[in-house]
Amino acid sequence: MPYRMFGRPLLGLIDSERAHGLGLSSLARLERSSLGRNLLKSLYQSPELPTNVFGISFNHPLGIAAGFDKKAQALSAWPSLGFSWMEYGGITRFPQDGNSKPRMFRANKENALINRMGFNNPGALAVRDNLIDRKSTGLWPNNPVAANIGRSKKVSNDEAANDYSSTLDILWDYSDLFVLNVSSPNTPGLRELQEADHLANVLDSCNLIRDRKGSHKPLLLKFSPDMSDEDLLISAEVAIKSKIDGFVATNTTISRYVPKNSQSRSVFAESGGLSGRPLRKRSLEVVNLLYSHNGSEVPIVGVGGIDSVESAWDMIISGASLIQLYSALVFNGPSVVSKIIKGLKVKVKENNFSNIGEAVGSKHT
Ligand SMILES: Cc1cc2nc3c(=O)[nH]c(=O)nc-3n(C[C@H](O)[C@H](O)[C@H](O)COP(=O)(O)O)c2cc1C
Repeated sequence: MPYRMFGRPLLGLIDSERAHGLGLSSLARLERSSLGRNLLKSLYQSPELPTNVFGISFNHPLGIAAGFDKKAQALSAWPSLGFSWMEYGGITRFPQDGNSKPRMFRANKENALINRMGFNNPGALAVRDNLIDRKSTGLWPNNPVAANIGRSKKVSNDEAANDYSSTLDILWDYSDLFVLNVSSPNTPGLRELQEADHLANVLDSCNLIRDRKGSHKPLLLKFSPDMSDEDLLISAEVAIKSKIDGFVATNTTISRYVPKNSQSRSVFAESGGLSGRPLRKRSLEVVNLLYSHNGSEVPIVGVGGIDSVESAWDMIISGASLIQLYSALVFNGPSVVSKIIKGLKVKVKENNFSNIGEAVGSKHT
């Protein structure tokens, strides 16, 4: 309520990326004191709806998607906003500024964002230094943490395998699971890494690092919604052969329709990836496709347009073991998290499941 009444209207008056930065730095300040964390908790705490995926326990299935906390600067704030897990990044091996600004746009009437950030981040080594500080000052959250890894812009696809696996190596002790992002539309050529040969190289190189570490942390692959169904299944098969543990479906889309509203029409003319409500249909299709081919063998994280109990439930019964959101946090505020989890608890009961895990993929049975 406080966000919708005050936060969103105020933030709506300023540029999207600046609003995002202000929101994030406020969170980063609040997470540093127990008073701040307790204040957030009193407003936004979610009930529990426990699940176990990849051998990891989650208080409930909903996490904050990649790209919101790019530098992991507010990691401990996310559980206070009700999320059960968080994915920081995208992180690249080398620091980079990303594309020129403006590069993030809101289409309010469509509940959609367009971004062409281009992996702006301080690079894997600097992020690791911050995470070392965070651990040593007791600000490491008790909830599962995922790291999103992208390819450095200055590195070609032929060198990508080493770029990904070096970042994995650097961040290994600072994440419980890793998402290999070969699907952002904002790094030229990146999506070609979803093709069989490149993909096998990237995954094999990451597996070598994992084998050397001697502990099995899950590696997940994040797909683009813009691949054909046929290509998606080919990539998924390659990934399974290369021992992938899970899929994330999906990243943002470059496809567009023409909105009726003129503000949205001008935003939709911007290049970049579209997220939010218009993405929901295709993300759901991809989750259905992957689940109908692989069943529960490879758990899926469903992301794209989740902003309500119904959209979250649809993702889960279509095959998502875990779910994430980004855009709904911008349009609905943090209360959307507890609202979704409360609603999912009711759905589990109404459908006579004994836990949320039983609901996963139940549409296909
Ligand atoms: C501004 C912005 C930055 C993003 N950055 C990343 C990123 O670095 N890595 C990634 O895998 N996905 C990134 N995403 C995609 C989200 O993680 C998510 O897949 C997508 O927004 C769909 O979810 P939503 O409809 O709930 O927003 C970004 C999205 C937005 C809006």
